Amino acid sequence: MNTRLHFENLTNLIFAFLAFLLLLFSYGMVQINSVEKEEANCGTKNVSTEFSPELEKEIQFGSQLFKNNCGSCHAKNMKAKMTGPALADVEKRWNGNRENLRAWIRNSQAYLLTDDPYAKNLYAEYGESVMTAFPNLKDEEIDAILGYIKLVAN
Ligand code: HEC
Repeated sequence: MNTRLHFENLTNLIFAFLAFLLLLFSYGMVQINSVEKEEANCGTKNVSTEFSPELEKEIQFGSQLFKNNCGSCHAKNMKAKMTGPALADVEKRWNGNRENLRAWIRNSQAYLLTDDPYAKNLYAEYGESVMTAFPNLKDEEIDAILGYIKLVAN
């Protein structure tokens, strides 16, 4: 009777211990699972950078156009003066007038004939140095360049 009770106690103890191990194990699994989930979330955050794929494409487009057509006279950091002015905040200086800016970029000499005092002053300030004309640039190409300028200048 005494030994039997002792044996039963021991079995109970072993069961209790096993149950405890099982509990520890499942708690551990839950922890690992949540860590994995966190890591997975961080991963998504890192992969999806600040820009959507469409925007990324547009930036690439603007960047290429700028490098091919404008970078020889306008600083690539948009902040230094070179042959032409630094282009940071250029839209503000043109009072957000996209039409005028496009017209200037396509043909600054033709635009100067409109007698826009701002353009005339700028032309004088840069020693009447003539900016290349880009009559073939489409609206969306100019807009991509202006978007790229804004991004780099910020
Ligand atoms: C050959 C040199 C040259 C190239 C190439 C050139 N620019 Fe210019 N740009 C100038 C100069 C010089 C001025 C200053 C005005 C002047 O003298 O005509 C100017 C002025 C400007 C202005 C007005 C800036 C302000 O502060 O208001 C804009 C906008 C501009 N350029 C955009 C462009 C873009 C966009 C391209 C490329 C598609 C380009 N430029 C290519 C020389 C150049």
